[in-house]
Amino acid sequence: MLLRRLLTTLASGVLLSSLNPLAHSSPLSRRVPHETRRSVPLGWQPVRRAEPSTVLPLRIGLAQPNLHLIESFLNDVSHPDSPNYGKHWSAAEVAEMFRPSDETLEIVRTWLADNGIHEYRTRLSQGGGWILADVTVEEAEALLDTDYYVYEKPAGGKEHIACDSAYHLPEHISEHVELIMPTLHFDLPKRRSVVKRTSKPGVGGGPRVGQKIKVVFNDLAHCDEQITLDCLRALYGFDYDIASSKSTFAVVEFTPETHNPSDFDVFFGNFSKDQVGERPTLVGIDGGVIETDVPEDFLGESSLDLQYAMGLVGKNQEVLLYQVGDTVEGGSFNNLLDALDASFCTFEGGDDPTQDGIYPDTAPGGFDEQCGSIKSADVITNSYGYNEADLTPFYMIRQCNEYAKLGLMGVSFLYASGDDGVGGNDALCLESNGTQALGAPIFNPGFPGGCPWVTNVGATQIAPGNPVTAPEIASAEFGSGGGWSNVFAVPEYQKSAVLGYLKEFPPPYPSDIWNSTGISRAFPDIAGNGWNYTVAIDGEFVPIGGTSASSPMSASMLTAVNDARLRKGKSPIGFINPTIYSDAFRGLFNDITIGSNPGCGTNGFKAERGWDPVTGLGTINFPKLLAAWLELP
Ligand SMILES: *[C@@H]1O[C@H](CO)[C@@H](O)[C@H](O)[C@H]1NC(C)=O
Ligand SMILES: *[C@@H]1O[C@H](CO)[C@@H](O)[C@H](O)[C@H]1NC(C)=O
Ligand SMILES: *[C@@H]1O[C@H](CO)[C@@H](O)[C@H](O)[C@H]1NC(C)=O
Ligand SMILES: *[C@@H]1O[C@H](CO)[C@@H](O)[C@H](O)[C@H]1NC(C)=O
Repeated sequence: MLLRRLLTTLASGVLLSSLNPLAHSSPLSRRVPHETRRSVPLGWQPVRRAEPSTVLPLRIGLAQPNLHLIESFLNDVSHPDSPNYGKHWSAAEVAEMFRPSDETLEIVRTWLADNGIHEYRTRLSQGGGWILADVTVEEAEALLDTDYYVYEKPAGGKEHIACDSAYHLPEHISEHVELIMPTLHFDLPKRRSVVKRTSKPGVGGGPRVGQKIKVVFNDLAHCDEQITLDCLRALYGFDYDIASSKSTFAVVEFTPETHNPSDFDVFFGNFSKDQVGERPTLVGIDGGVIETDVPEDFLGESSLDLQYAMGLVGKNQEVLLYQVGDTVEGGSFNNLLDALDASFCTFEGGDDPTQDGIYPDTAPGGFDEQCGSIKSADVITNSYGYNEADLTPFYMIRQCNEYAKLGLMGVSFLYASGDDGVGGNDALCLESNGTQALGAPIFNPGFPGGCPWVTNVGATQIAPGNPVTAPEIASAEFGSGGGWSNVFAVPEYQKSAVLGYLKEFPPPYPSDIWNSTGISRAFPDIAGNGWNYTVAIDGEFVPIGGTSASSPMSASMLTAVNDARLRKGKSPIGFINPTIYSDAFRGLFNDITIGSNPGCGTNGFKAERGWDPVTGLGTINFPKLLAAWLELP
């Protein structure tokens, strides 16, 4: 401490360097690019330099220790052969293991003070992971050797302040910092994993008039045309009554996506009579509420996810609705993770700096940030996603590590893999310079699907004319998201499955349009039916499809597995990937061997015997997997 005070009171950089080892943090030391961005997300354009006096809520994410061990920690509690299988960590244990060191904190604080941002202007976040300081654009530009611009979308809407293609840190500070925000990041909220209307919208994309289902069959003879709860139960042998609700299950939605509560009764009235009157339990995060009177366009995702999740787990299992974001700002993945884990939390009750195109913003955000106040459910399903190219690597890595921490705590986190095959959301693909564009040639992997610490779910369907008992095929109506990450390395649990596929069924594409290195994480992990779900919206039934359907559906079955294990006094299944790829489990899925996931002007990858980058290991065979999971300690 004394040394630091000395440093900050001395004016001369020369003197500093002769005095002490922290001198490399003086403003004069060599700077290196810390993060760079090759292009801004599609549609955003810089319109002017940011005002020097604009105040930015600067957040410095400190380097966390022990992250290099996170995979072995996770395997230790998640691999079926581990003696510690199921012995999940407490939130406090997680926070302790990854809390930045005092040395890191001191070095970064000293650097800030050297640049005029003295300790009295800073705060340390509750979990010790972030230093927070309000600074002007002028100060931030000097500190980070960058230029800030105001960005806009020509389509209108909010402005966003971000810095130009890179920001820089002194070489020896760089290793103590994971990332700094707001800088390059466009933490854009709520891109649902595209709900496909399974009949085409009218010309001009007007309301869903004429698309409603005229005759609701609700029998097993028509599952190729209309998926219902009974069809899914028949497909996956999901015949299980959750008797007591000991396990917890949550569905994530991002405002403004919402549902009409009365649609539950239309759905249950037709398909699950004893659930009429039932509603999900709202867990509002950062002001999330159930909005009414919203355009029909915002009802598809939430209605689909919740009607099927609730219908499949039945009336004895409470379904939590994590509704993220208020009606002013909406919400993003970071808002969700903040609420679930204080060690991730960037803010304590302040404004949210990372999201969402709000700078310069004078309007009050209207909500208090929640920080570690929500105990995570055992199973969480999320049908929203980004493209990796929307985000910076450090940003994704920090978030991905957070999913690993939730895994350590025993959470199963499922993500929809996306609906544009080997392309990204909205069918965007990559140019060789890294920009995203329609018609570009390079495969565009999704996030967080490429994060190895989530379970990524692709989509299947019943082939037209086939009975519910026939093997399914990979979704043919849209390309189920799949492929190889450009950011994340292949995790241990997946190596043999992925290398096996590459060796046996080498994809016929030049290596400059996909990540053919064999060292990167591949997805999805599993799949589930994702076509023609019969969903009640505004009192009528419409067909909806997408991996958006596959994820909550699969999550419902995992919730039943947890129920069975908890009733036997066992732990929840937690992070399932090391288990499902193990020799004992991988054969227990319904292998999907027909179909592919087109995108970026190609046929995409092919579904094959065993794991493939279209349908993963296959769909859940509930009786077999339940039995195997009950065998584990
Ligand atoms: C899916 O639903 C649409 C609209 O109800 C219907 O026309 C179609 O036959 C169904 N089946 C398939 C395989 O698309
Ligand atoms: C079944 O669905 C229809 C809409 O197709 C709705 O009008 C009806 O009320 C529902 N039945 C019940 C018993 O809720
Ligand atoms: C990237 O490449 C595409 C296609 O060649 C081009 O249209 C675009 O202007 C380039 N963008 C940048 C930022 O260089
Ligand atoms: C392919 O993936 C690896 C690991 O995820 C990454 O290091 C590499 O940069 C990626 N290649 C391209 C061309 O993006």
